[in-house]
Amino acid sequence: MTTTEPDAPSTAIRLPRIGEPAPEFTAVTTQGDINFPGDYAGKWVILFSHPADFTPVCTSEFITFAAMQDEFRSYNTELVGLSVDGLYSHIAWLRTIREKISFTGHEDVEVTFPLIEDITMEVATKYGMIMPGEDSTKAVRAVFVIDPAGVVRALLYYPLSLGRNFDELLRMVKALQTADHFEVATPADWRPGDKVIVPTAGSCGTAKDRVTGNDGMECQDWFFCTKEIPAHDVEAAIRAKH
Ligand code: BEZ
Repeated sequence: MTTTEPDAPSTAIRLPRIGEPAPEFTAVTTQGDINFPGDYAGKWVILFSHPADFTPVCTSEFITFAAMQDEFRSYNTELVGLSVDGLYSHIAWLRTIREKISFTGHEDVEVTFPLIEDITMEVATKYGMIMPGEDSTKAVRAVFVIDPAGVVRALLYYPLSLGRNFDELLRMVKALQTADHFEVATPADWRPGDKVIVPTAGSCGTAKDRVTGNDGMECQDWFFCTKEIPAHDVEAAIRAKH
């Protein structure tokens, strides 16, 4: 006879999923209190976590985020950081970065986007940023791309030792905005100016015949249709208007 053990309490990590509303929270940050995602209505946001203040990979990432902040802003995208350190640690670390650290030619870097203090790990837990197999007391390098309606549109997770690829973060923002604006999808390694995928597969051409329609759509088969959108049209559509 087999006995059935009562279910153990679930310790499963619940990650916010693509297509779901970003979990709400209020928090203290280096730029004052924030109410998330409400304070960012109408903007795209990159909400990201880092393992700890005063660590080298994180330092290189913060300098890079700060150096690219204006570029993200030019695509209506704000940055919000988080670690499970306290506010005074954040302030001291950011001051040290400005006063002493240079990276890839950037020096005297002031971080002006908010950095959340999360000593209780409440926000990190809500967003599935703590991965105990990697470290149970630090957040991994999580990235959430959140759209102007407060919906999670993409997630990236990196381990502690691996600094993020910032070209990819910016590419993701541009690709998501382009997909929304033109109602298309973006293929592997897409960048503005590359052909986009037209998801209305089958509406032009038939098997094996390569057909180019009047609308510039080219179908190589019923499931693979692309069209050109010049880089300047993409940029005109997605660049924030000031
Ligand atoms: C770093 O940012 O350098 C780092 C942080 C935590 C663990 C390993 C590296």
